[in-house]
Amino acid sequence: MEKFLTLQDIDKAANYIRKHTKHQPIVGMILGSGLGELADAVEEADIIATKEIPNWPESTVAGHSGRLVIGLLRGKPVLVLQGRAHYYEGYGMDQVTMSVRVMKRLGINNLFVTNAAGAINPEFQPGDVMILTDHISLMAMAGANPLRGPNLEEFGPRFPDMSQPYDQEFIRVAQKTAKDNGIVPHQGVYICLAGPSFESPADLRFLRGIGANAVGMSTVPETIVARHAGMRVLGISGISNKANLDGSTITTHEEVLEAGKMIVPKLKTILLGVLDTLS
Ligand code: HPA
Repeated sequence: MEKFLTLQDIDKAANYIRKHTKHQPIVGMILGSGLGELADAVEEADIIATKEIPNWPESTVAGHSGRLVIGLLRGKPVLVLQGRAHYYEGYGMDQVTMSVRVMKRLGINNLFVTNAAGAINPEFQPGDVMILTDHISLMAMAGANPLRGPNLEEFGPRFPDMSQPYDQEFIRVAQKTAKDNGIVPHQGVYICLAGPSFESPADLRFLRGIGANAVGMSTVPETIVARHAGMRVLGISGISNKANLDGSTITTHEEVLEAGKMIVPKLKTILLGVLDTLS
């Protein structure tokens, strides 16, 4: 039997964070590649370097500085994670999703999760945003499910429902906020692959065929773990590049970070709009 993080491991991290902040956050936000600067808007911030937190998986990717920023956004207490851990870095799925379980143990029941994604849908352009209506958990289907291993009953049941990964009310408010602010978001299905190589043209034609609109290397594991624990999830992709369905263009990490600059203001507007509806 492989070893997995235990409730004690998770609580050790949660206790460390509790000791280092005066805030009681109501929302956790996990921000993707190039999208982390949203954390700069947090006021009265307590900033914790994730490398100081016991058992925390350190992000090793450019554009993901490992910090927890806990403070106020629009007067509401939030916890923002800048720099998530990915499966391709070598972490187990339990480590990739540990932040979500720590949030839950801190009393947080709402998760806003963003990512940089490649457009599979030909109508999507770099700089666009997509509100996630559903996801394809291809990795989980193939065995890399973050809930694999002993079930931690404190979070949820062995066989959790996944009929509504992304909260319908969050989707509605996100859509309305975007529209009210002149943003035209897409809605669609996100697919998470292991990475770190980007997709081949045949990979992408396969992904399009099975109904994915945007592709990335994150979010789905976190969402599964959040839903297991009964948390409400809002998922938004920032479209950083067109996926390369015919092999005519190449995708680079720099391009992903660059598009982030266009996307951050849109994401910020939408996330704040949904945040405003929470109490
Ligand atoms: N593919 C996978 N992950 C990504 C992409 C992509 O094209 N863009 C940003 N993250």
